[in-house]
Amino acid sequence: MGRVLVACEFSGVVRRAFTSLGHSVWSCDLLSAEDFSLRHRQGDVRDILNVQWDLIIAHPPCTHLAVSGARWFRDKKEEQEQALKFVKTLLDAPIPRIALENPVSIISSRIRKPDQIIQPWQFGHGETKATCLWLKNLPKLLPTDIVDGREARVHKMAPGPDRWKKRSRTFEGIAKAMAEQWGPLLDG
Ligand SMILES: C[S@@+](CC[C@H](N)C(=O)[O-])C[C@H]1O[C@@H](n2cnc3c(N)ncnc32)[C@H](O)[C@@H]1O
Repeated sequence: MGRVLVACEFSGVVRRAFTSLGHSVWSCDLLSAEDFSLRHRQGDVRDILNVQWDLIIAHPPCTHLAVSGARWFRDKKEEQEQALKFVKTLLDAPIPRIALENPVSIISSRIRKPDQIIQPWQFGHGETKATCLWLKNLPKLLPTDIVDGREARVHKMAPGPDRWKKRSRTFEGIAKAMAEQWGPLLDG
């Protein structure tokens, strides 16, 4: 069983997927855990990258990186540089296996192209939302349940203070696929 760090996760979705398969898992976010788990560290994930982990799955903020926000790029050079630096720190973490997730973003042009682009509809959710994965020492995720009804639900969500949280939650089907396909690599 492996020691897994889920970086930048308040929802606990990926943490629970790996925990249910017997791994030792922590999530970490500046925010508290939505499910009040005791296996959540509220704080800066950069402080615990040097602890011994077998795998990190990171969901860094895309606010200043997503191509969908490109019209704002001119006004936020500094924020963008900081966001890219954070992504680099996560990708360079001294951890044997790394997965970093983000929408289509300037990570592709400024750091490197993603190893894979997945969609929720490949994992049981009838939605489109291109999700890029940057992988180190991990195989590409195989689709688990290809479904119809592909719409971009996130764009239809009502505005409100929690909209970004709902939008940014990891899809359960993707978390399950990560745990089922990458978890076994950590055994032994
Ligand atoms: C796009 S959201 C990811 C949400 C995630 N997919 C989930 O299901 O909970 C990005 C998260 O990164 C967190 N974050 C930003 N900087 C961080 C840092 N230095 N250390 C830990 N978490 C950080 C934010 O608080 C935010 O919750």
